[in-house]
Amino acid sequence: MTRLNALVVIVVSVLLVAVGASAQFFARDPGVRPGPAGAGRMLDGLTGLQPDLFTAGLEEFQESDPLEEGLGPRFNLDSCVGCHSQPAIGGTSPAVNPQVEVATAFGALNVVPSFITLDGPVREARFKHKPNGTRDGGVHALFVVSGRNDGTADASGCPISQDDFEGQLAADNVIFRIPTPTFGAGLIEQIPDSTILANRTANAALKAAFGISGRPNRNGNDGTIARFGWKAQNKSLLLFSGEAYNVEMGITNELFQTERDETPQCQFTPVPNNLTSSDGTTGPDALSAIEKFAFFMRFLAPPRPSPDTPGGAASIGRGRLLFGAVGCTLCHTPVLRTGPSTVEALSDKPARLFSDLLVHGMGPGLADDIVQGQAGGDEFRTAPLWGLGKRIFFLHDGRTTDLLEAIWAHRSLGDLRFRSSEANGVIDLYYTLSQSQKQDVLNFLRSL
Ligand code: HEC
Ligand code: HEC
Repeated sequence: MTRLNALVVIVVSVLLVAVGASAQFFARDPGVRPGPAGAGRMLDGLTGLQPDLFTAGLEEFQESDPLEEGLGPRFNLDSCVGCHSQPAIGGTSPAVNPQVEVATAFGALNVVPSFITLDGPVREARFKHKPNGTRDGGVHALFVVSGRNDGTADASGCPISQDDFEGQLAADNVIFRIPTPTFGAGLIEQIPDSTILANRTANAALKAAFGISGRPNRNGNDGTIARFGWKAQNKSLLLFSGEAYNVEMGITNELFQTERDETPQCQFTPVPNNLTSSDGTTGPDALSAIEKFAFFMRFLAPPRPSPDTPGGAASIGRGRLLFGAVGCTLCHTPVLRTGPSTVEALSDKPARLFSDLLVHGMGPGLADDIVQGQAGGDEFRTAPLWGLGKRIFFLHDGRTTDLLEAIWAHRSLGDLRFRSSEANGVIDLYYTLSQSQKQDVLNFLRSL
């Protein structure tokens, strides 16, 4: 700790000298950046059929699927885009939560759980434990199709009902996850494991002084590094697509063939619900929906940061330096490079994601007690910060819309179940900044 204290004193005095007088105001989150979305277009340099694959995926991603296409029996929403739309298609939770409307659309009889509100984030729910006390951890879809008649099929004879979410809430057995944005996801997919591991050992002494470790969440079967989702629990975009189609929308597919709820009166199309076409169709149209989703996200360009908004270029520039000086970059690595790829637009490119793609122990304050692969109940993937300027909700459960609260939540002391957050040292250093320096950091974050 003495080493850390010495480091704190040195860094802080350099910063204070650099900026000078103390400020008379309190730093605050400038809020969602105005102006163009800066996201949602395809990567530059796509060739051949690639733009067509992107477009086919974009269309599929926006489609609302009815009963006849396999929706349900249990589901969280009826389209990918509903949850992934801010600030453009492929993004994250929008300002108005579409889950409220879908609950009773077409005569469905669902009750909207108390944690789903019109102006709150899109949420999916996981239960920590099963009734017998063993770990659960799985997604419990919020809604059922019972009573829905959307013109393609009639589910009024479907007898299933929703889980008892209020009871589970009262028993402190529910946790939430909000959607992560998928801009630039193809670049993330293409970063070699060796790059992630080399970045992990970079600045080792400094990381050790701060108490930062971090580890990859390795895929159980092939041992390579998984990287998608709040706990880096999923290996690839295709896998995430297959899982989301089944778990969020209830649509079975070539990766997830079996209905999660097989109640016969609630099935309106054969299983798996969606397949690669075998009727002679050719080109992108022949692909299964999950292949299309994966192509769309893989070819989706990363968010474009603003050079001067909010706060002006000078403040953003100072904020960028301070973000590094206090040690945020020890987890939020500014850039990782992709390896050689068969797709030229993804090959040997910088991914300016602000993440090391490792999971870190974040303390009891953020812990959700859900184990996924090797990520423990307190471990989360360093959230990529690209596109942050346009985000409305922050942290895995969407608990805040305020960047200052998101930063504060990084800090928590260990208890009987979870160790202290690895970020504590860095967050303490951040809090030694003057108000105007903090404002520079916040402006920088909202420029991303
Ligand atoms: C009900 C809302 C909802 C719907 C519908 C939904 N998602 Fe998601 N999505 C989420 C949530 C929540 C997460 C974060 C899950 C986690 O990590 O636990 C997520 C994460 C993802 C990720 C991971 C991105 C990253 O870098 O972490 C991908 C890829 C993705 N979704 C694709 C899709 C596709 C494709 C569809 C349509 C088939 C879809 N999602 C439908 C809520 C949704
Ligand atoms: C020990 C590693 C670590 C350090 C150091 C760290 N972060 Fe994070 N950061 C994370 C993790 C992990 C998450 C995701 C936590 C969650 O959602 O539960 C996160 C999330 C965030 C988010 C929310 C992003 C989102 O998608 O909702 C912001 C903003 C953020 N960090 C900013 C910072 C800033 C600013 C600093 C420096 C003052 C910092 N972080 C230092 C690991 C770190």
